[in-house]
Amino acid sequence: MQVPAARVVFSDADRAEIAAAATEILASGQLTLGEYTRQFEAEFARAHNAPFAVAVSSGTAALEIILRAVGVARADVVVPTNTFAATAFAVRRAGGRPVFADISPRTLALSPQTLEAALTPATRAVVVVHIGGLIPDDVDAMARLCAERGLVLVEDAAHAHGCTHAGRHAGSFGLAAAFSFYPTKVITSGEGGMIVTADERVRDEALLYRDQGKASFLGNVHIRDGYAWRMSELHAVTGLVHLRHLPEFLEHRARVAARYDAAIDAMAGLDRLVVPAGNVSNYYKYVVLPRPGLDRSSLRKELKERHGVALAGEVYEAPLHQQPVFERFAAGPLPVAEDLCGRHICLPLHSDMTEAEADHVLGALSGALRSLTLDS
Ligand SMILES: Cc1ncc(COP(=O)(O)O)c(C=O)c1O
Repeated sequence: MQVPAARVVFSDADRAEIAAAATEILASGQLTLGEYTRQFEAEFARAHNAPFAVAVSSGTAALEIILRAVGVARADVVVPTNTFAATAFAVRRAGGRPVFADISPRTLALSPQTLEAALTPATRAVVVVHIGGLIPDDVDAMARLCAERGLVLVEDAAHAHGCTHAGRHAGSFGLAAAFSFYPTKVITSGEGGMIVTADERVRDEALLYRDQGKASFLGNVHIRDGYAWRMSELHAVTGLVHLRHLPEFLEHRARVAARYDAAIDAMAGLDRLVVPAGNVSNYYKYVVLPRPGLDRSSLRKELKERHGVALAGEVYEAPLHQQPVFERFAAGPLPVAEDLCGRHICLPLHSDMTEAEADHVLGALSGALRSLTLDS
């Protein structure tokens, strides 16, 4: 059996619906920022219990727009070192300086302690990343710390469609949140992003920024340093149709995760990321921690070549403070992130994964661990 790292799930009915809508959109002449974009925004806001949502061209654009609305030019912005490069690129492009921080081994996210350790007199904002679809359960303490210090908390919710902590959705803990619809994400529009906020000013700024900083869609007066960050109607309808499946995807993914949990807990030599009580995760990533000493690339190779199982991408393989492009902003050592980035793996978990596939992954993992341990 072959189990791919990720699978994009659109049913035949979904594909037919999107194809019919695409035909209608092409005939209508309204190819961008039209009715499907408005519907996608309204439905996404509803699904996340949020007052406002603004659709944009990518998750990276969503982050940059939020950071521009906050105003981080020439200021420091705290970012966890184990995030996608896009988080720090957005800080750079908004004119800020990323300050890389360590993480909690419990949540793989910033904690109040690691956040505080990274603050400087020039800090203006903090970006908390809900890694793998897990909202850190100390997020309220981080929000309080930011409020006390006059800092703005922003959520990078690129992984966190539908996730909640204490009954509140991703997007409700900071000033605004950025979601991504890149194809590997739990909900995709092909490419795309969404800004979610309860702040009317951020909503209004986002509407300006995404369309070249124009004061109005049809006018030619530019009042912000904007960009071509619009969402096309073809992307919007794709996301709208996919979004309808979010509740069933969350349920399905949680069932697969529970199957993984029980088996991993019974395997020697493995730990896993535990979702805190009171949290709902979408299991965008299912994170497993082999004990130190196991060579990850050998495990990856063994799983692929002998068992047909492709591991999903890590979160992340190397921390950003060790990436060549961020050498100028090098921090460190950041020991928790360095250890966890170097050692964890992510099991494949699809929104339509069968029990047989999940069991094959688990069998492959225990077989591969056995043979690698015997080899060494
Ligand atoms: C944590 C994180 N932030 C930001 C992004 C950027 O999203 P996009 O690829 O839609 O620009 C991604 C996605 O790929 C991500 O994983």
